[in-house]
Formats: sequence, structure tokens, C-alpha cells
Amino acid sequence: MKPYKKMPVITFDHFQLRTITKKDYKDMFDYGKDEEVTSFLSWGPFTSPVEAKQAIKTIFYPRIHKSLPRGYAIIDLEKHKMIGTIDFHTKPKDKNGAEVGYVIAKSYWGQGLMTKALSHLVDVGFNHLGYDVIYVRHLSKNIASQKVILKNKFKLIKSEPTILEKKHEQISDFMLTYELTKEKYHANQQS
Ligand SMILES: CC(C)(COP(=O)(O)OP(=O)(O)OC[C@H]1O[C@@H](n2cnc3c(N)ncnc32)[C@H](O)[C@@H]1OP(=O)(O)O)[C@@H](O)C(=O)NCCC(=O)NCCS
Repeated sequence: MKPYKKMPVITFDHFQLRTITKKDYKDMFDYGKDEEVTSFLSWGPFTSPVEAKQAIKTIFYPRIHKSLPRGYAIIDLEKHKMIGTIDFHTKPKDKNGAEVGYVIAKSYWGQGLMTKALSHLVDVGFNHLGYDVIYVRHLSKNIASQKVILKNKFKLIKSEPTILEKKHEQISDFMLTYELTKEKYHANQQS
């Protein structure tokens, strides 16, 4: 079976990364309706659970047709709740790799959770999916995301002006693109 069709389940502390399912939509709505959580994202805030259901169906499930894994739900094992996602959402045309995205419910921010989740996803990307390079992007205003990226030793490769269209506003900012190559990742593991 292709590796992106059979993703490992990863457990750390009292959290788990496992493939998202349609049943996760109510939990996804709980954080996806939050204006602050979605302020730097291309989607949201959700106004009804149906929108979360649609997102899982139309965004996560079809990834398999592009040779990408469906995406991980982040689970709080103590609360039995899905609290976010981390996933490979786009494949570059000319490289064997993918771009990462992530989001987590506000009550979990600042506990080092996404830094750990990203390090696990990177490991899966290189060691399970066999990628040569992993990309990640953030708006320059999104300092928390930048910290998660830098703590995982990604390297800045591009900065370009962008406009993010939200429901009630437009955000003018710079989109910063980072990469981590397989070689750099393995060298970091040795040091
Ligand atoms: C970005 C996000 C995933 C970070 O998750 P997290 O689990 O809080 O991340 P971590 O705790 O591992 O690390 C975040 C770091 O940023 C810091 N931070 C958090 N909010 C911050 C802010 N508004 N300004 C500056 N630093 C901030 C934290 O203190 C932490 O730094 P530290 O390790 O030096 O203490 C989370 O804030 C989120 O889901 N945001 C909304 C969705 C989003 O923006 N996704 C990324 C799109 S590119």
C-alpha cells in the first residue's frame, strides 16, 4: 500500500496524531468558529458545524487523489477531543515533498504542543513518506507560527507581499516561505 494511504498513529504526552475522519466535524467546528484562531488562515471562522463537515469532506478526504495523506487530527487523549489538525496540504510541482499546515484550539496555545506535533510530522514526511523537502509558510504577523517553524529548524527561502481576504477584512502582509531538506534534517539529528 502507498505510504500516504497508511499513516502511522503517533502518541506523545497525552496527545495523538491520527488520520482525520468525518466524525471529527463537531470538534473542528468548536475551534474553527473562533475568529482569533482563524484570523491568519485562508478559511473561517465557521458559522455552522455543516461548514466543518464540508471542509473535511472536500478538503481533507480528496487529498488521497493527489498522492497526499488525508491529514492528521490532533487528539487530546484525556478529553477524548479533536483539538486541531496538522497536515501536508500541497505538493510542489517540481520537488518530491509537500507543504505543511496546522491549527490548534486557542485554549492549547503556548504549551509547546504544535512545536512537538510539527517535529513528528516532519519525521513522518522524511522517514515514512520519503520526501526530499518540506515547506511551510506563514504571514509575517503570525509570530506564534514563526516560532513553531524556527524551533523545527526550517530555513527562510522567500518573502513576498500578499493580501489575505477574510470575511470582514483584508490583511496586507508578507508571506514567508521556509524549507527543510532531507539532508539538513538528518544533519540536525546528528548534532
Ligand atoms: C500557530 C499555532 C499553531 C502555534 O501553536 P502552539 O501550540 O501555541 O505553539 P507552541 O506553543 O509550540 O509555540 C508557540 C510559540 O509562540 C509564542 N506565542 C504564542 N502566541 C504568540 C503571540 N501572539 N506573539 C508572540 N509569540 C506568541 C509562544 O509563547 C511560543 O513561544 P515559546 O516557545 O518561545 O514560548 C497556534 O497559535 C494556532 O493554531 N494559531 C492559529 C492557526 C494558525 O495561525 N496556524 C498557522 C498558519 S501559518
